Amino acid sequence: MRLISLVLQFLTLGLSIAGLQPAPVHRRDAPNPADLYPEHNISVPIDHFQNESMYSPHSDGMFNLRYFFDASHYKAGGPVIVLQGGETSIVGRLPYLQKGIVAQLAAATNGIGVILEHRYYGTSMPTANLSTENYRFLTTEQALADQAYFSRNIVFPGLEHLNLTAPGTAHIAYGGSYAGAFVAFLRIQYPDIYWGAISSSGVTEAIYDFWEYYEAHRKYAPPDCVQTQERLINVMDNILNSGDNETIDAFKSAFNASSFTYNDDFANTMSLSFGLWQGLNWDPAVSDPSFYYYCGNITNNSVLFNNSDLASSASEWIESGGWGNESSALTNRMLNFIGWSKAAYVDGVNNLDARYGAHNASAAKYTDKSLSNYGSLSWAYQYCTEWGYLQSGSTVPQNLLSLISRLVSIPYNMLVCNYAFGIYGPPDVDRVNKYGGFNISYPRLAIIGGEADPWRAASPLATLDMPDRLNDTSTVSEPIILIGGLAVHHWDENGLFPNETTTELPPAPVRDAQAQLAQSVQAWMMEWQQHCIVEPGSCN
Ligand SMILES: *[C@@H]1O[C@H](CO)[C@@H](O)[C@H](O)[C@H]1NC(C)=O
Ligand SMILES: *[C@@H]1O[C@H](CO)[C@@H](O)[C@H](O)[C@H]1NC(C)=O
Ligand SMILES: *[C@@H]1O[C@H](CO)[C@@H](O)[C@H](O)[C@H]1NC(C)=O
Ligand SMILES: *[C@@H]1O[C@H](CO)[C@@H](O)[C@H](O)[C@H]1NC(C)=O
Ligand SMILES: *[C@@H]1O[C@H](CO)[C@@H](O)[C@H](O)[C@H]1NC(C)=O
Ligand SMILES: *[C@@H]1O[C@H](CO)[C@@H](O)[C@H](O)[C@H]1NC(C)=O
Ligand SMILES: *[C@@H]1O[C@H](CO)[C@@H](O)[C@H](O)[C@H]1NC(C)=O
Ligand SMILES: *[C@@H]1O[C@H](CO)[C@@H](O)[C@H](O)[C@H]1NC(C)=O
Ligand SMILES: *[C@@H]1O[C@H](CO)[C@@H](O)[C@H](O)[C@H]1NC(C)=O
Ligand SMILES: *[C@@H]1O[C@H](CO)[C@@H](O)[C@H](O)[C@H]1NC(C)=O
Ligand SMILES: *[C@@H]1O[C@H](CO)[C@@H](O)[C@H](O)[C@H]1NC(C)=O
Ligand SMILES: *[C@@H]1O[C@H](CO)[C@@H](O)[C@H](O)[C@H]1NC(C)=O
Repeated sequence: MRLISLVLQFLTLGLSIAGLQPAPVHRRDAPNPADLYPEHNISVPIDHFQNESMYSPHSDGMFNLRYFFDASHYKAGGPVIVLQGGETSIVGRLPYLQKGIVAQLAAATNGIGVILEHRYYGTSMPTANLSTENYRFLTTEQALADQAYFSRNIVFPGLEHLNLTAPGTAHIAYGGSYAGAFVAFLRIQYPDIYWGAISSSGVTEAIYDFWEYYEAHRKYAPPDCVQTQERLINVMDNILNSGDNETIDAFKSAFNASSFTYNDDFANTMSLSFGLWQGLNWDPAVSDPSFYYYCGNITNNSVLFNNSDLASSASEWIESGGWGNESSALTNRMLNFIGWSKAAYVDGVNNLDARYGAHNASAAKYTDKSLSNYGSLSWAYQYCTEWGYLQSGSTVPQNLLSLISRLVSIPYNMLVCNYAFGIYGPPDVDRVNKYGGFNISYPRLAIIGGEADPWRAASPLATLDMPDRLNDTSTVSEPIILIGGLAVHHWDENGLFPNETTTELPPAPVRDAQAQLAQSVQAWMMEWQQHCIVEPGSCN
């Protein structure tokens, strides 16, 4: 899932902030997965629920749902392992088919790996445009029905001689983040179609006001960085709330950001950096290390930017912002915060309102209903109607210092719902929480996630702080795995070729977690073979 208040590519909940992306490390010797796997479509119904009035007017049409597959590990009797792509184009998920979790599970079980797109993302569009009326077919239950339909009907090109449909063939689902919750629901809603599922960082509890998002940072990020962030954000908020327009203007102009019309847009932008935590990964070729650069900058006691002329102003702001007792320690850090944020978000942007602002109801990100704008609209529609996860600063309990500005409020985060879809009320979280929320469980449903994942607070692992509780509840049928080593978001999903591994990579917690998943799916396949013997004729 995306960090909704950020400039995201989300929701793998992944994010991308202009100017801070490290140059990707290319491993030139391995083939580009986009050249290995041709694109395919399966035709699926637009409306799986002809009886339900919420989908009226109904459609009896079909649309192309995209998928990629790899049968190179397949041997007779092996499963079909379907990775649900979730809220993005699946092209970015292809490395998981080539060398990530799907390749690993397929190799361990002689399976076929599949990456399946979600309706209203990538090229899998049920409607001709993204008008709000056309979005009526974008619900979690319709998308779950797509994946069940896929498994009941799939005939893989080149393998037409094999009947690989469910339930005669074992189908196993994998998903991370939103897709992690999705596959858990899939196992429960379609137990006869999906033999097992792995829910990685699965956000099975939909939460309207998700202020807890940043609590993982508070607990696991470097303490000096957390303390500094708490104070700098508090100073900023106290200035912006002071009513002293002269000081507010001077403060904004230190970032060269006076042109922000709305102070909440300014405050939201200057809060973005802390969200970079989620972009960390154990694989340096995948990780965005910017969070640590940011921390390195705001905790450095020397002025790192050419803005020491602002030092006396900075100390006055710290004083009037309530932290005068620490102003000698905070002044240079404030200058570094200003310098870093200016370089990251302001420099080179000629219209700050247009780039970061949420208040313009006629902005193209809200009003452009063409299919190509799905990145701005589709996940927003899903969280405005069903999932929530508004990452607010305003509702952080008053006994805590918020790690993002308190000007980032629920109404502020709702502006996209207001302007893009005319939605003003909270989402109907019951539509997804009915599957079990935090307490979701089912035979052959694996729950896995990172200890330091901000999304853990919306997952079944939220309350599993005690390692001994894990050991008590984890079984082969229902493994519960908390990945240590400061693991963040679905760190079990990406992998390395055998010739790329070293003693450090993958790190032991990830290597062990992936091995445990492979063993679990192998055990599930032994149960499958039993089932085929006990119920003759039930397997192809
Ligand atoms: C590593 O393995 C991959 C997959 O088998 C292969 O494509 C690549 O060429 C190998 N790299 C080297 C350096 O051998
Ligand atoms: C899959 O469907 C999309 C959307 O209809 C289309 O653009 C694309 O060409 C199709 N791909 C193939 C291989 O048929
Ligand atoms: C419509 O509802 C009826 C009665 O509840 C049910 O038997 C039937 O299967 C439903 N049809 C569809 C397409 O869902
Ligand atoms: C969207 O498509 C519908 C038909 O599905 C059409 O009636 C409507 O005018 C289109 N709206 C936009 C904004 O393109
Ligand atoms: C494939 O197997 C299923 C049972 O799992 C059966 O219902 C279906 O008719 C078979 N399809 C073909 C094309 O034989
Ligand atoms: C300060 O600025 C706000 C917003 O621009 C404005 O509404 C208010 O009247 C100003 N206050 C003073 C004292 O000028
Ligand atoms: C400050 O941030 C820059 C830009 O991200 C980074 O290159 C540099 O290493 C950081 N400095 C420190 C001391 O962390
Ligand atoms: C502060 O930044 C400077 C310049 O980048 C660097 O040389 C120094 O090591 C940093 N100090 C700390 C404590 O990181
Ligand atoms: C540093 O900033 C001052 C203005 O505050 C400017 O005059 C000077 O040219 C800048 N120096 C560099 C090296 O950019
Ligand atoms: C400064 O004051 C704040 C309360 O306003 C307090 O929380 C903090 O601990 C004080 N810092 C020091 C170094 O005493
Ligand atoms: C401030 O922003 C303006 C407008 O984008 C730009 O022209 C100017 O160079 C910037 N000044 C600094 C010091 O970055
Ligand atoms: C839980 O299991 C792990 C791995 O088997 C083991 O290392 C750890 O000591 C166990 N913890 C407790 C509290 O029993």
